[in-house]
Amino acid sequence: MIQCPFKPKPYKNKASNLMTFLLKRRSWLDGLYEKSYSMQTGRVKMPGFDLFVVNNPQEVKKIMVNEVKEFPKSELLHRLLEPLLGQSIFTTNDEVWKKQRELLRPSFEMTRIYKVFELMSAAARDLVIRLERQIDKQADGIIEVDEEMTFVTADVIFRTIMSEKLDEQKGKIILDAFVTFQEQSVRTAMRQMFCFPKWLSNLLGEKKRLEAGEVIRKVLSDIIKPRYEEENKGLAEDRNDILASLLKVVDSDTNERFSFKEILDQVSMLFLAGHETTASSLTWTLYLLSLYEDEQEKAYKELKEILQDEKEPKIEHIKKLKWLNYCFKEALRLYPPVGFFARSARKDTQIRDKEVKKGSGVVVAPWLIHRHRKIWHKPDDFDPSRFEKLENKDAYMPFGMGERVCIGQGFAMQEAMIILSYILSKYKLELQENFIPDVVGRLTIRTANGMYIKFSKRKSE
Ligand code: HEM
Repeated sequence: MIQCPFKPKPYKNKASNLMTFLLKRRSWLDGLYEKSYSMQTGRVKMPGFDLFVVNNPQEVKKIMVNEVKEFPKSELLHRLLEPLLGQSIFTTNDEVWKKQRELLRPSFEMTRIYKVFELMSAAARDLVIRLERQIDKQADGIIEVDEEMTFVTADVIFRTIMSEKLDEQKGKIILDAFVTFQEQSVRTAMRQMFCFPKWLSNLLGEKKRLEAGEVIRKVLSDIIKPRYEEENKGLAEDRNDILASLLKVVDSDTNERFSFKEILDQVSMLFLAGHETTASSLTWTLYLLSLYEDEQEKAYKELKEILQDEKEPKIEHIKKLKWLNYCFKEALRLYPPVGFFARSARKDTQIRDKEVKKGSGVVVAPWLIHRHRKIWHKPDDFDPSRFEKLENKDAYMPFGMGERVCIGQGFAMQEAMIILSYILSKYKLELQENFIPDVVGRLTIRTANGMYIKFSKRKSE
């Protein structure tokens, strides 16, 4: 019998302030209650912060599109991510953001994304080698895929941005540091909202978080520094990666290039935004496919028909994968990697029946909207056929919307389809018996206890 895909059970009623603090320190999903999934707007009042949660799609459009200037990215989120991302496009606002977006745009145009197809495929081939090694080692064929998805997506970012393959040692340092940074960030955010003094925050883990941020920046800095120096001396090799375009780009207003710190900020951000989200989406897609055998078989058959005798997918194959694409999109609905978008109100305003004071936090949470009781039919069920004709387009936003929409959407879709095709064409997947993922909401929606899936080689392989 098919189990429903797992979701943390919401509380019957709203928790007290103290309970909210205790529950959300681990994962913000732990503090949700039943009404969170059916309300239009909600309010969470904390000692140092007034927060409004907006689920109503018309109001969401107002915040993200029609009145976007009145709802800039949250200062709290900016401060939270600053130790790792500095002044990067993900959290800046207004003119600074506009300029950064303009400078990054050429790197993410579709023609450029097609150019990185081969680099993504090379990372997927290396993933298969690692999977084979593990299958040979484990008698039962069970693999923890979350770690594998995190490694392969970080590897894709290394190859496409810096023309470097991620080696296992460097991978371990950077990815372990990132787990610490994520875990501690939720705690730091809660402490800030509850007005903890800085010394107490440092004692409770803030120092550990800052150190983890520095570890990641040091690994990236060691790669970027020599290339920055070569570029300044006019000795740079002719490379075709995203770093090369960042090194060359000139600000049309000031005629200046990015400084070293500015480049490090943008690369750190691309590393975070580019691997963490895609890793989360792939882990959840594999989870759902291994839980729903029929959907997996349908995706496998389609893939085999399209590939014919080819062993590896090419760009023209990937574009034809309709069912796998629907499965991926449905996974993004049930487990949107970016589970919430944090904004703040620039002036006093009204959101439905709520008076929102200037400076209040405003949150749009795809995690809630994608599972909203009054918007979706069987909201918690995995049903890829929804995407044959999506009726609730304005309530589906895994990549955000409006001018702050994800710049890497095309990149991520191509990468995910390549990696899933490599895996599905070679292996049949089954979830480990009785395994239940512990879904946690940190910076992204991840599993706290890994994802254990049995890999069986397909007969034709
Ligand atoms: C499945 C994978 C991905 C998902 C679900 C995703 C989701 C998102 C979302 C929801 C936002 C907007 C957040 C907000 O409005 O607060 C965003 C922004 C962004 N994403 Fe992605 N993303 C993914 C992959 C990528 C990749 C692969 C890259 C780059 C290599 C990337 C780069 C960015 C950047 C630079 C921004 C900031 C854009 C701006 O503010 O102008 N993302 N992403």
